[in-house]
Amino acid sequence: MLDFDEPSNGDESPLLRKLSVAHSKTAYKNNSFSGIAESRQTADYKATKPVMTASKSMGKESAIEEITPTTEKHRVIFPMSASLAPVSIGARRPDADSVKIIGGQGYDVRQPVPLKYPNIRQHFLNARNNFWTPNDIAMGDDKMQWNTGKLTEEETWMFKCNISYLTASDNLVPDNLDNAILAQITANEMRQYLRWQMAEEANHIESYFFILESFGLDVEGQGQIFNLYQQVPELTAKLNWNLTFTNNVVSCGAPFGSPEANRALLEDLISYYIFEYLFFPLGFSQVFALARQGKLRNTAQQYQYIWRDENLHAINGRWLIRQIIKENPALWDKSMRERARAIINEAVILETNFGKATMPNGGIPGLSLKSYTDYARLMANNICQALGLELLFDIKEHPMAWLSEYEMKQEVNFFEGRVRDYRVGSDLKWE
Ligand SMILES: [Fe+2]
Ligand SMILES: [Fe+2]
Repeated sequence: MLDFDEPSNGDESPLLRKLSVAHSKTAYKNNSFSGIAESRQTADYKATKPVMTASKSMGKESAIEEITPTTEKHRVIFPMSASLAPVSIGARRPDADSVKIIGGQGYDVRQPVPLKYPNIRQHFLNARNNFWTPNDIAMGDDKMQWNTGKLTEEETWMFKCNISYLTASDNLVPDNLDNAILAQITANEMRQYLRWQMAEEANHIESYFFILESFGLDVEGQGQIFNLYQQVPELTAKLNWNLTFTNNVVSCGAPFGSPEANRALLEDLISYYIFEYLFFPLGFSQVFALARQGKLRNTAQQYQYIWRDENLHAINGRWLIRQIIKENPALWDKSMRERARAIINEAVILETNFGKATMPNGGIPGLSLKSYTDYARLMANNICQALGLELLFDIKEHPMAWLSEYEMKQEVNFFEGRVRDYRVGSDLKWE
């Protein structure tokens, strides 16, 4: 086990500097593509030696290679099936052997058949059956509580930071899908699911908006709360951390489908899997702790529906990472596995700092900062386990087992036409 590594001052800049270096200085190495597609694109870029970095806490075991930029220019074939590739008269139909989750070549991505990954279509159907609307939840009790001083000053601060971060962060997820992910996904069924996920994230933002509106806050009052993520450094740091991964993909410079682009993509997907599986549930737990005391229970109900969606996003995100590794095993080498652990560890540091900033007195009744931090560590371990990595922390039991009361564990199975249990939260296992 590695010791939990806390930064000395909560300054996010070292993390961000490190992450920026990790990909601004990596580049595509192998340009020996074969299997040429009907429609090719080309790209010029400067080749450099691949480099991986790791956080200080992981430094002992990680190889940090020297960066050796070259000025040599390569002409690279970019054969991947692309969403913006023109439609060609006479092009052949996709066949299941050709379809890949990323980097597929020689077929058009706009056809629903063959269905290479039927479980992903099921993800779409399950998600669609779960669709809900925030204004179906009555908010009258919460409005009364908010306006009659039912929450303590500490609880009010925690809640304001909480909803500010969650609203901003729910913007990041679809923006990442839109800017960094969708263009590289070459299976139609996954593209369909991710489109639906983007709609759900928009619905979550509407939920947060509806909550503050329901409290009777005017635009100024709402704006002061929503803007906190630009005022509290620990909130800013978490958001910028994920954004760095998105930007690393966008500015990678290597052709889609290349090992270098795939590496940037995988790091980004891991960071957003963490987002769905760790950052969101930790945030929700703060409001569920209020609800346990009988406070903001209507808001907690909104959060329960959001959590159900985020669980499915996490399940899909984990599958996507696994499938990419399965289809591109060379990507998951020792340096990448160490990098993944470092990313997960960084997320726990950020989450711990978030907990301290939002609960500066060590917690609120029913939720201690220690429990909060341990919950983050537990979820980090689960992510390590899910990715086949050595665990980071010595956490055996769930520090907030009561959270299961707030998990909505049911979905309607489209084919069976009935409600059944599905696995959620900390119980998530590989499919
Ligand atoms: Fe969301
Ligand atoms: Fe999500």
